[in-house]
Parts: sequence; structure tokens; C-alpha cells
Amino acid sequence: MFNSRTKIKALLSSEQTGQEVTVMGWVRSFRNNQFIALNDGSTNNNIQVVAELGLLDDATLKRITPGASLKVVGQLIESLGKGQKVEVKAKNIEILGDCDPEKYPLQLKNRPTLEYLREKAHLRFRTNTFGAVFRVRHSLAFAVHKFFNDKGFVYLHTPIITSSDAEGAGEMFRVTTLPFDKTPRKEDGTVDFAEDFFGKSTNLTVSGQLEGELGAMAFSDIYTFGPTFRAENSNTTRHLAEFWMIEPEMAFYDIEDNMNLAEEFIKYIIKHAIEHNADDIAFLAQRLADEEKQLPQDKRSEFGLVEKLEFVLNNPFERITYTEAVDILLQSPAYKKKKFEYDVSWGIDLQSEHERYLVEKHFKKPVIVTGYPKAIKAFYMRQNDDGKTVAAMDILAPGIGEIVGGSQREERLEKLEERMREMHIPVEDLDWYLDTRRFGAVPHAGFGLGFERMVLFVTGMTNIRDVIAFARTPNNCEF
Ligand code: 4AD
Ligand code: MG
Repeated sequence: MFNSRTKIKALLSSEQTGQEVTVMGWVRSFRNNQFIALNDGSTNNNIQVVAELGLLDDATLKRITPGASLKVVGQLIESLGKGQKVEVKAKNIEILGDCDPEKYPLQLKNRPTLEYLREKAHLRFRTNTFGAVFRVRHSLAFAVHKFFNDKGFVYLHTPIITSSDAEGAGEMFRVTTLPFDKTPRKEDGTVDFAEDFFGKSTNLTVSGQLEGELGAMAFSDIYTFGPTFRAENSNTTRHLAEFWMIEPEMAFYDIEDNMNLAEEFIKYIIKHAIEHNADDIAFLAQRLADEEKQLPQDKRSEFGLVEKLEFVLNNPFERITYTEAVDILLQSPAYKKKKFEYDVSWGIDLQSEHERYLVEKHFKKPVIVTGYPKAIKAFYMRQNDDGKTVAAMDILAPGIGEIVGGSQREERLEKLEERMREMHIPVEDLDWYLDTRRFGAVPHAGFGLGFERMVLFVTGMTNIRDVIAFARTPNNCEF
């Protein structure tokens, strides 16, 4: 009867004591042959199990080591010791699984580094840091669904395998069953994908947006939330080859409606996490503060994690145009003192150092930048009347840089086709997409939120590999 157990989080907040309880979990520590700190992942707080002297024989005592799993039956009592309200006075302790202390990778004298734990990612959920990170991640994911569900959006599952490049950037992982040694070739020597599994060239999706737009043209409001894949060779603390993205798409929305929704959405999910994961966020705030103590004064953040999140909740995001952003950069002391690695002029793609200057030094809050030059943005974005810019919006967050990319979409068929030809997007292959502009086209808009970048922001972690269970990055696909 395993299911009659009570989770530790519930036990710790129990109003009642005296009753018999069953608790199961993994040993975090064992002191004085009597006090076991047990954890089951429901919270970072352990329950103290007291095994009175004489309850267990020597052989069993030796097997209670960090990482071993136990089933404990006992009485929930008010704690005699400091630091916890209740504890379990054990009547029976059963060892479910031993854990050899000589071999257990988390059995370390010193606190393991995040780098070390990345290599032990299969066990790192058992640490306080990763316990907190992944419970917060869960909570944010739940809030995403709640936010859109409450607004009447339809959750659309867009395909993972596609034959189109939604961003037109050519950063795709190919999907094929063709043999490498005997690749079928056409007369001109190119690979004959007619022989491939789907009878055409296919890849993993970089974005569900194009299919999302089809949904919005029927349901009005949809969102996708799924894995996306990018074969961009960026080995940074902000890029993954496999990441999760939330992409809402709304009919009858212009760029301003789009910005309003994105800002409301981001604030909503942060608030949800603060309300439902206060313990975990407090733990992560302390972790960050401890980590920053190692840094020189000028590298430390002005605010703690909790203050930063509260600040974001309580203040409107700054909204500026790309042209204004470039002007601010050109006027900045950083630019004048040649502190930027990349040059600044109208037309450049803002580099992460520029984005970070804007949010961290200049505005000190999230910034929404609109009206980017059309040359640096995707083919589907709506062209502004100036002929130079598009109705794009990126949201930049302190410490992260770009967290959202979105736009109002080009709903005018001729303009869209013209832009696709200019950008060498295969118009014939996307004929189905163009149908939305042929049959009852409407102004519409949408955006994509990089989920891991959001989790970074809320947890205060600094490397994106630490907020996804098993990171996929160039030269790394373990587990
Ligand atoms: O700006 P992106 O490329 O926009 C799109 O894919 C649009 N189709 C979204 C839309 O309008 N529906 O990506 C959106 C967001 C970025 O702002 C960033 O947060 C995240 O996805 N992102 C990544 N996150 C982790 N690793 C990567 N390699 C990422 N590339 C983009
Ligand atoms: Mg982008």
C-alpha cells in the first residue's frame, strides 16, 4: 500500500499532530544515528525522522546514507528540536533502496558546483537548487496554460516535423530516413528527397507560428506551447538547440494589442510563481545572493531576486522604437568610450551587449522595442508605411536580453508575396499559408516567448543549461 503515504510538503504544514503517518523519500542526511532528514521532492524542506536509539540494528543503521530511499511509518509529533514544527517519531523504517556512499555522485564534502551537476544531470533534481528550479519551471508552465485558458484561447498542438522553415533563417535540423552511404540522387546530382520517408525534404520545427496563424484564422485566439529546434551554432548561456516556446496568435490584433497581451502575460506568470512557489523563490534568491558575494562589487545586481520580480510586476515596461534605441546607444557613454564590441548604426541587428545596455544600464526595466528595419526581420512581419521598417516587437529583459520576439503579421497578400520573393522564401511551398490571406484575411499578430529564458529570469539562474532538464547544445546531447 504505497499510496497511503503523505507527501512531506503536506506533513510540514499539517495543523494536526498525534496521528500515524507513512512517509517516503530519499535521505539527505543522518546525524547521531538518530535524526534523518528525509526529502521527497515536494518541497526543499526536509522532514525530520527520529529513529530512537535501539529501534534499528547496526546493520540497518549503516544503510541509512545520503541518497538511500526509505519508507517510514511513525507518529507525527510536535518537534522537540529547533528548526521545524513537526517531525516523525519512527515506529518502523524500511530501506527501499540502498545508496553506496562510496559511489554516489552527490555524496560530496563540498557543495557541488553547477558545472559538476550539469554532468550529473540525471541526479541533480535531488539537490535543493534544482528541486527549486524545476518546481518553479513547472509552476510557470501551469500558469501559461491557465492564463490562456482563462482568456478563451485554444491550445493548438502544431507539428514537430515540418517541411517549411517558419523563420526563413535556415537553422533547421533535417529529419530523414535516407541512408547516408547510398543517398538517392537526381540526374543533376542533388539528393532525391522524393525517396525519403515523407517524399520530400523535412526538418524539426523552428516555430509553430505559421500553423498557429491558420488556427487563429478560425478560432480567433490560439497558443502553442511546445519544443522547437534550432541548429544555430551559438554556444552561449542563452541558447539551446532544443527549447520550449509559447506562441500565441490572435486575429483582430494590431501591434499595440500584441504588446499589451505580452506584458500582461509575462506579469501574470511571474505573479503565479511568486504566489505558489514562495519558498522555492526565496531559496533561489538566497542562492543568487550567495553567488554574487563572490563577484566584485560592480558586477553584483542592485536588487535581490524577489525585489527584481516585484519591480517588474509593479512597473510598466518601457516602450521604444528601434530608431530611438539606436539613438540612445549612439548617445551612450559606453558607445563614446568605445566599450561596445559591435558598432552601432541604424540598420544593425542589436547585439546582446546593446540590448543589455538598454535594459540594465539605461532603463533598468524590461523594454519593448518596435519598428525594426525590415532587412533584419522575418518575411511575415507587417510592413510599415515608411517602407523601411516592420511592425516587429522584441521584449528585452534585464539579465537576459531578448525574451520575446513577435510582430503584427503582413495580412496583405501582394505585399507578403513580394516580400517572400525578395527574401527568397519558396512561395509555392507556402501556398497553404498564403490561403489565409486569400480567404477572409484579417489583421492579426502574435509573439513567441522563449520558455527557458523566462525560467532563467524568474529563478535567477545564469546558464540556460540549468533550467531545462537535459540541455541540448552544440557537441552535447547526453541522457
Ligand atoms: O525571436 P524568435 O526567433 O521568434 C519566433 O520564432 C517567432 N516565430 C515567434 C512568433 O512570433 N510566434 O524566437 C522567439 C523567442 C526568442 O525571443 C527567445 O526568447 C527564444 O524564442 N529563443 C530561444 N531560446 C533558447 N534558445 C534558442 N536558441 C532560442 N532562439 C529563440
Ligand atoms: Mg527574435
